[in-house]
Amino acid sequence: MSDTPVSVADQGAIRRITVNRPDKLNALDAATLDTLFAAFEAAAGDPAVRVVVLTGAGPKAFVAGADIAEMSALSAVEGRDFSLRGQRLMRRIETLPKPVIAMVNGFALGGGLELAMACHLRIASENAKVGQPEINLGLIPGFGGSQRLLRLAGRAAALELCLLGAPITAERAYQLGIVNKVVAADALEAETLQWAEQLAQAAPLALRGNLDVIHVGGECAIEEGLQYESAQFGLMFSTEDMREGTRAFLERRKPQFAGR
Ligand code: COA
Repeated sequence: MSDTPVSVADQGAIRRITVNRPDKLNALDAATLDTLFAAFEAAAGDPAVRVVVLTGAGPKAFVAGADIAEMSALSAVEGRDFSLRGQRLMRRIETLPKPVIAMVNGFALGGGLELAMACHLRIASENAKVGQPEINLGLIPGFGGSQRLLRLAGRAAALELCLLGAPITAERAYQLGIVNKVVAADALEAETLQWAEQLAQAAPLALRGNLDVIHVGGECAIEEGLQYESAQFGLMFSTEDMREGTRAFLERRKPQFAGR
């Protein structure tokens, strides 16, 4: 049994957050949800962190779901609170002002897929399996999965995964738009790091602007979304990074973004 349910490590500006309960396939109990929340809160507030990679410990699972043993004993009110606890974490990740990549290294089931879907990008190993199997427990998704899957992959895919409950392959998840990329298992680390390094060198305020407009735009009417885009676009002209980026292009050199 591991001591801490979440481990955190930095590699330059890349923060790696690992769900660390491999003996339980990284299942999310209340303590793990809260520790993850604190880890993402810390990443949000640390200016040295420019990108976060989220993964699961061990060779088998990203996260195999909410902790079924813990859930089995909950009352209705406790069940609602457990759902709210999970939703709070997913919202924290989704609204983080810096990009989060889910490195899906195996099973991402139930709360595991919900966790991956709250991240901004998902890269999966070819042997990963994803799904919303709560129906098999007499349950429904409770950490936002029904809503995020619907928005990410559409009604047909959301209904198929939630009603039938069968895990799908990484390749099928890619075809449905649930994951951004599928790579060989032994290439997962390197490919994820390549994305993370690229994001770590990008202009942080422009990354944040993109995250904001796409997040807000997904929830509002096109007219409001377009107005918000213009406002954010204009805001970029107040940044040193925008001056540096445009100047570097004209001077045919690589830009150095300072995050100002
Ligand atoms: N909650 C709590 N414990 C879990 C878990 C979960 N969601 N998923 C796996 N575990 C535990 C198992 O109980 C087992 O613990 P034990 O060794 O103390 O008995 C350990 O993790 C290993 O899992 P096991 O089932 O033996 O591995 P497997 O390779 O045979 O099967 C899965 C892998 C993912 C197919 C299977 O574990 C599974 O179906 N998990 C539940 C998936 C699910 O329904 N998630 C949604 C929850 S809302």
